[in-house]
Amino acid sequence: MSERQDLQGRHIVLGLSGGIACYKSAELVRLLTRHGADVRVVMTPAAESFITAVTLQALSGQPVVTSQWDSRDHNNMPHINLGRWADAIVIAPASADLMAQLAQGRADELLSLLCLARPRERCALMVAPAMNREMWSHPATERNVAQLRADGALILGPGCGDQACGETGDGRMLEPADLLDALIAHFQPKVLAGKRLLITAGPTFEPIDPVRGITNHSSGKMGFAMARAAAEAGAQVTLVAGPVHQPTPQGVRRIDVMTAQQMYDAVLPEAKAHDVFVATAAVADWRPATLNEHKIKKEGKKSAPLFELTENPDILAAVAGLPQPPFCVGFAAESQDLLDHARAKLLRKKLPMIVGNLGPATFGRDDNALLVVDAQSHYPLPADGSAADKLTLARALMADIARRLG
Ligand code: CTP
Repeated sequence: MSERQDLQGRHIVLGLSGGIACYKSAELVRLLTRHGADVRVVMTPAAESFITAVTLQALSGQPVVTSQWDSRDHNNMPHINLGRWADAIVIAPASADLMAQLAQGRADELLSLLCLARPRERCALMVAPAMNREMWSHPATERNVAQLRADGALILGPGCGDQACGETGDGRMLEPADLLDALIAHFQPKVLAGKRLLITAGPTFEPIDPVRGITNHSSGKMGFAMARAAAEAGAQVTLVAGPVHQPTPQGVRRIDVMTAQQMYDAVLPEAKAHDVFVATAAVADWRPATLNEHKIKKEGKKSAPLFELTENPDILAAVAGLPQPPFCVGFAAESQDLLDHARAKLLRKKLPMIVGNLGPATFGRDDNALLVVDAQSHYPLPADGSAADKLTLARALMADIARRLG
């Protein structure tokens, strides 16, 4: 199994209330266990009308509990035992009725009873609503959601889209992979709480004519991992992305751009409002001096066309040169002499920190080996000089940035 074990050792109670989205919860159990969590499933009687306990028992490898009168526990108190065991209770799907019960502090079946009895300071309650759009937008549901938030519950979603009833709108349960990411994020240390991070990612594309351009092999994976790690660490994140096919990490504000100039134009006005600027983008250093309005044709040409290139603005140097710059972190993509080149860029761009990596060896890959360089010192990440997946590296870099911010 190649997944990171981000939930290793975590105890998760997954609560199902009645809703067609119960079928997605089977997949959620699989994802949670594959990422290392121990999962105990609790079902309301309504949930049992949508999916059987047998399925969830098989997937979680643990007996499913459906009643507060379940006598298998020695003290006959599953509502106490499960709440003391759990690091988090995730209710997915959470029906309108279950949320109403939770908002009122009712406890007439096991799942709501368990939520009421849980030790709130150490066991988070995460609620993934799933219902018809009219039910979701009803003032009664809005009141209940507001009450649950005020009581400390985390509301995950809902998403928007086609509903089982044939209507379209808000109220779909988030996809299992999104719920997994939210849970993983919940357990990450909030070392950047209250901080605002601006991050560039991906390549830029410099058009030659309407169908061709200059670009590079950057996949954006490292920058998107940085954005996710920053959001997981509690920061407000703005991600300015070149043309890449990467999903936007949860909670991240994304601005899509194409060219280096557009990236510069998007970043500069934002920079002042951020505490940290991380430039992971592989910005094209040059662009064609003129843009051909129409496709350059081969026909009738005796030799290949010649292009004049003009230099793009250096986004990182411009931000680092602002009167009160954010804490600026550069990335140096090199093909050799990593330390020397990284240090030279640190000095030239006046940065407190730069992260070196061997570009050709990392572009498009899921893992990377980094060299973190500042004016006095440098160290490899991972510490043993091997490679690690980009999200693991990004989390370590965020912890380092947080330490430097003090
Ligand atoms: N960078 C930038 N704007 C540019 C060029 C680079 O913001 N026009 C940033 C990159 O995002 C990276 C750092 O500067 O954080 C170093 O980029 P790199 O391409 O390695 O270095 P260059 O300054 O372009 O130097 P060279 O290409 O000569 O190695």
